[in-house]
Amino acid sequence: MPDGSIIDYDGLIPNNVGLNDDLRLRKALEVWHPGYIDWWKQMGPEGFQDSMVYLRTAVGVGSEGWAKFDFVRMPEYRWGVLLAPQVEGRTIPFGAHKGEPAWQEVPGEYRSMLRRLLVIQGDTEPASVEQQRYLGATAPSLYDLRNLFQVNVEEGRHLWAMVYLLQKYFGRDGREEAEELLKRRSGSQDSPRMLGAFNERTPDWLSFFMFTFFTDRDGKMQLAALAQSGFDPLSRTCRFMLTEEAHHMFVGETGVQRVIQRTCEAMKAAGIDDPYDIERVRALGVIDLPTIQKKANLHFSLTLDLFGNEISTNAANAFNAGLKGRYREDRLTDDHQLLTAAYPVLRLKDGVVKLDDVAALSALNMRLRDDYVADTEAGIARWNRVLERAGSNFRLTLPHVAFNRRIGEFAACHADIDGSLLTPAQWAVRSREALPSAEDNLFIASLMKPEQARGAYAGWIAPPRIGIDNMPGDFEYVRIES
Ligand SMILES: [Fe+2]
Ligand SMILES: [Fe+2]
Repeated sequence: MPDGSIIDYDGLIPNNVGLNDDLRLRKALEVWHPGYIDWWKQMGPEGFQDSMVYLRTAVGVGSEGWAKFDFVRMPEYRWGVLLAPQVEGRTIPFGAHKGEPAWQEVPGEYRSMLRRLLVIQGDTEPASVEQQRYLGATAPSLYDLRNLFQVNVEEGRHLWAMVYLLQKYFGRDGREEAEELLKRRSGSQDSPRMLGAFNERTPDWLSFFMFTFFTDRDGKMQLAALAQSGFDPLSRTCRFMLTEEAHHMFVGETGVQRVIQRTCEAMKAAGIDDPYDIERVRALGVIDLPTIQKKANLHFSLTLDLFGNEISTNAANAFNAGLKGRYREDRLTDDHQLLTAAYPVLRLKDGVVKLDDVAALSALNMRLRDDYVADTEAGIARWNRVLERAGSNFRLTLPHVAFNRRIGEFAACHADIDGSLLTPAQWAVRSREALPSAEDNLFIASLMKPEQARGAYAGWIAPPRIGIDNMPGDFEYVRIES
């Protein structure tokens, strides 16, 4: 067995899983590979496929210094199979099998449940690439263009990660699922991606930053829960994916931060104090703060739907089986079995939104969503520090979890951003005020003009504080003509 810390780049498929010694698996992945490349060329970034892009590629899987930066054409990116190192003597950390040795093979009784978890996670990865495929044409700088492509190639690699598990451990079923993952299409009527938020459009760069801030963070939570899995190959796969995911959220968080900063600077220079003086702010060619809030309202509410029903037997079963844990399960100090514990769930009961204690095992989706909201709130607080430093009185907030929901407890009602319930007629008015309108979207679209000169930035976004890989401000992150 390879020791796993070094990645073998000699073959067609970079890996640290000893692919050379597993001919059946190598064959399966090599058969799948051309279909993947076809998918990338068809559904990956539109244009720029011949451009040299300054991308990071993993060279190790340790926590420190695993990345190497270099110019690469995207279709030649070395997508591979990378797992975090195996932890000697690891045991199943939770559920009915807690304390037993972690599984190195799929436990037969949980085979279909596990396959389903892999397919759902796997489906989100190519979906986001598809959603973002037209953004290259309007990138506000070469720096941002490069970041978009970095996120895209890594989402592609995340697909590889799930396909590896399907093909290695699920035989023919797994190979069929791997094919299906290349066939579904984000937003398609006939064969859409599996989850709602992954069929929405990402039409502009503010949407992209919001998506990577809010929706990639859902990815982080799901991966963190799967990283606890008693099925060790899944745990190791997800642990490495999490190290990549951090950059995606960085792109989103700093992206919105830079938009906020630019808006504040432009308002100050023009002597505009009132953030709601929207016409004058927009005339400066920057995105007004209330519109940023509306975009946050939209992306937050869409992302909450990804956590599924607050009360869920599937989630209970996956936990009991030892397949999917809680966020940071290893840092929690309870019995990790939850047979008698309760958890407060926010519910709509008799026309009132209130907390209700339910069996903790059934409330795991709610719990993961609560952890998500807390993590998101910390990010919002960092955005607000930008506003504070700029001397603005405006503050961004998260809407109530009942706002604009399609799945779970609040799908059946209409709620305002503060959680108060609305009649359909009231909702028709409030939703137009609290979510981006067609006019808002048109305005944002009008700003989306590409800026491709070295070191230059579109007028609606501030430059980053530091470059990727500490590169200087005028670094040519993407050599468009090459
Ligand atoms: Fe991902
Ligand atoms: Fe991601």
